[in-house]
Amino acid sequence: MSHSPEDHIPVLAQELVDLIGPQPGDTVVDCTFGAGGHARLVGEMIGSEGTLIAIDRDPVARARFQEFESTASCHTRFLPVEFSQALKDLQNEGIRAAGLYMDLGMSSLQVDAAERGFSYSHEAALDMRMDPRQELTAGEILNEWPESRIKQVLQIYGEERYAGPISREIVRRRPLNTTSDLVDAIKAGMPTAARFGSGHPARRSFQALRVAVNGELDAIDAALPIAWDTLDVGGRMAAISFHSLEDRRVKQFFAGLAVGCICPPDLPICICGHEPEAKLLTRRSITAEESELEANPRSRSARLRGALKLAERPAV
Ligand SMILES: C[S@@+](CC[C@H](N)C(=O)[O-])C[C@H]1O[C@@H](n2cnc3c(N)ncnc32)[C@H](O)[C@@H]1O
Repeated sequence: MSHSPEDHIPVLAQELVDLIGPQPGDTVVDCTFGAGGHARLVGEMIGSEGTLIAIDRDPVARARFQEFESTASCHTRFLPVEFSQALKDLQNEGIRAAGLYMDLGMSSLQVDAAERGFSYSHEAALDMRMDPRQELTAGEILNEWPESRIKQVLQIYGEERYAGPISREIVRRRPLNTTSDLVDAIKAGMPTAARFGSGHPARRSFQALRVAVNGELDAIDAALPIAWDTLDVGGRMAAISFHSLEDRRVKQFFAGLAVGCICPPDLPICICGHEPEAKLLTRRSITAEESELEANPRSRSARLRGALKLAERPAV
């Protein structure tokens, strides 16, 4: 399926823009450009003196960026690599940003490109790579990894209750060639009643494999501290997550930065002098309003968190 820039609906877009508060002339980093929905809004706000630096490891996003750049009113730049690497490169160049955001997970461009294997609803090869230059595919995991490791992937990244029997079924049916072979193995590994529970029975396993293929959680862990260091004092950072494994990382990262005194609780006065580096802009995560849920079902699991940078990280 092809998309025009207008038919892509960015998730929690107004909420994200309100949180980051882009100002004319700002430099803002979009770590997950995708179809550029958020970037378009931010670009309009930073205006002709501002710079939007976009990152995405998917070449399809790069093609979208080229369309964006031809009409954007701000300065633009694109880094076609994994975001923790791109942020390191920006840091090495001495770039500092007033705003930075990540809209994690996969884009609608990726899910709807049937041949890329992200969707359990389309017959395709077992690929799931966001960056086709990468070697590891879902097919390699499913056909070559030991059963115990596949079980771990399904359990940890998909929180799949039937990870054991599903991984056994996957190994028994090797070789698996297509997404339909995988869906069949998943269904066969589940008790009948569980196949008719809420949502598609393959949803959790497909999520788990995608996270494993793309090393998504490691990428977030690596990127968060570099992203924070890229922000100027007074700058704002935000992240939209789509499952609890992502959201937990973002939440704990911001919470750690917002800690003030770290003296033992029994000390009557503070002697550590530790100051918070961040002020939380969201005590609880922001979720989609009813109207957005109706217009864009993908927003159902989206959670937005943000923080304001109060001070530089103390040198160690
Ligand atoms: C949810 S989409 C972003 C959608 C975008 N905000 C929009 O409005 O169109 C996530 C994008 O981030 C990219 N991505 C995910 N993890 C990445 C990583 N570690 N490094 C670089 N790009 C990544 C994906 O390729 C995908 O295009």
